[in-house]
Amino acid sequence: MNQDVKEILYDEAALARRVAELGKAISQDYAGKDLLVVGVLKGAVVFFSDLIRAIETPLEMDFIAVSSYGRQTSTTGKVRFIKDLDVSVEGRHVLIVEDILDTGNTLKYLYDVMCSRKPASVKICALLDKPSRRTAEIDADYVGYVIPNAFVVGYGLDYAERYRNLPYIGVLKEEVYQ
Ligand code: IMP
Repeated sequence: MNQDVKEILYDEAALARRVAELGKAISQDYAGKDLLVVGVLKGAVVFFSDLIRAIETPLEMDFIAVSSYGRQTSTTGKVRFIKDLDVSVEGRHVLIVEDILDTGNTLKYLYDVMCSRKPASVKICALLDKPSRRTAEIDADYVGYVIPNAFVVGYGLDYAERYRNLPYIGVLKEEVYQ
């Protein structure tokens, strides 16, 4: 285990099982539909790449990037677009894939932007959900795990751009960011 990690919440086997379940549910719900899966860079990349391979229905993928915390551990409420989609969402079923739903500021913003572009539908898939921290009115349609209020890293999630490559999700030791 990485020395900065206090505790492992979900190991590789647990993540693989849960991602397979999410993929199955998404495959059933989107059968016969024109599905565009939108990954939110960079945190969702690892989850996204496993998830799309667990989805059996045909799909197209694209990515968006929004501003992140830098070295803090909470968003400020202001979300900034760094990279927009390359394709149009008009008339299509959009599934936004995000690593974690925390205050909800990021996903609320992205959800509203996508909805304004005349899609057939917009849904959200978040690997992790911290409902105790929510300030924006937004929920995910597919959630991997509901977690308590702890700062987690690994499987794509970072602190100051580190730890994304850990194959598990673990709680970061407080002394690392305090
Ligand atoms: P929100 O806008 O507060 O919901 O924050 C969403 C973004 O904050 C996520 O996409 C993550 O990049 C980041 N984030 C929130 N909580 C954590 C965490 O526990 N570890 C790492 N990143 C986090």
